[in-house]
Amino acid sequence: MRVITVCVGSACHLKGSHDLINYFKDAIKDAKLENKVELKGTFCMDMCTDGANILIDDEVFHLSSVDEARAIFEREILQKLD
Ligand code: FES
Repeated sequence: MRVITVCVGSACHLKGSHDLINYFKDAIKDAKLENKVELKGTFCMDMCTDGANILIDDEVFHLSSVDEARAIFEREILQKLD
């Protein structure tokens, strides 16, 4: 199981983390990966100035747009499916 964790702390929220959650939710559903990829939220990860921050498994990514989220999803999830 892969895990995408999106920071929903206030700084990341202001930088669009809510849109990232919606994007990842749809992307997981569209790719029919509900049983392979879990989407979670987390409170502040203490990297507020770098946000919006997400984790894919244990790796941190700093995203500033849904387009970046799309690129990360393709590279880190779709291209690495078993
Ligand atoms: S609010 Fe996301 S890292 Fe602090």
